[in-house]
Amino acid sequence: MRASVKAHTNIALIKYWGKRDEQLFLPTNNSLSVTLDKFYTITTVEFDELLQSDQFFLNGKQAESNEMKKVAQFLDRVRTKANRTIYAKVDSENHVPTAAGFASSASGYAALAAASAKAIGLNLNQRELSQLARQGSGSASRSIFGGYVEWNKGIEEDGSDCYAAPILDTDAWDLRVLSVEVTTKAKKVLSRAGMKRTVETSPFFAGWLEAVEEDLITIKQALQERDFTKLGQVVEANALKMHATTLGANPPFMYWQSATVEVMQEVQALRERGIEAYFTIDAGPNVKVVCQPEDEQKIHDALAFLHVVHDIHHCRVGPGITYLTD
Ligand code: DP6
Repeated sequence: MRASVKAHTNIALIKYWGKRDEQLFLPTNNSLSVTLDKFYTITTVEFDELLQSDQFFLNGKQAESNEMKKVAQFLDRVRTKANRTIYAKVDSENHVPTAAGFASSASGYAALAAASAKAIGLNLNQRELSQLARQGSGSASRSIFGGYVEWNKGIEEDGSDCYAAPILDTDAWDLRVLSVEVTTKAKKVLSRAGMKRTVETSPFFAGWLEAVEEDLITIKQALQERDFTKLGQVVEANALKMHATTLGANPPFMYWQSATVEVMQEVQALRERGIEAYFTIDAGPNVKVVCQPEDEQKIHDALAFLHVVHDIHHCRVGPGITYLTD
């Protein structure tokens, strides 16, 4: 009753921003991401009749109580599905620089979903795993798959048609993502709380929902045509629109720091000099820059020159989940 799984993080090119059901993690809009090779989580789950409660170790240490609670709630869903009452020990190793603003929840819950389902004896296909991972963290639904992935919002109230599916394979288009870590002491509004506040209070949220439909059509065309300019333009514009909704929230909030804006402006300046780079930003101050392989080094050098830039991690398109054997 034991299984180990490796799952990679993903970065949304068209953002998931807003839930229509918080319990089931049903989103208000489709989103589209690229899975990244560099950052991942390896999780081992072992169900054991002798355990009196669930246990969760993160990077070798007992996890904090709020994290433990979320994992136990997730395992409850798995137990209900399997019709079992047995507890588990969960060991997770995160190879994700959390300081770089990468949500380890995407790779974390994708790995936990696949490992716990296998360990308890559920035989789920990838679509079912995506639905299960979604109920730990929305963006985890996309990390089951490699390459370029779309998460369909679905329309059913029970979430039965809400899962991710691949659009292009890992090897289909070699784009690069530079994760640019900036120096910051900012306290952040977590994505879960941020999207909730925006849905409930921002008058710009309706505009976001309207715009995202169009952006999805454009990015899917760009992916099919391998048109990098079209892709980059819509990626950057979509991130800006998501962040604009937070300014209209009550109380308003902003994920950017002055260092964030400096990096954004440098990316735009690079384009003026004929080097194609586009940024995207999640619920934090760090910036991800999307580019083509031939420009990667030049972009790195220009960004490394800014003194607000702390570190730059280079990523390629990554694979979906893999089951590991001991
Ligand atoms: C801005 O998946 O972390 O990164 O479903 O509440 O766990 P929960 O949220 P999460 O939100 C990610 C938001 C985002 C955009 C994205 O990844 O699509």
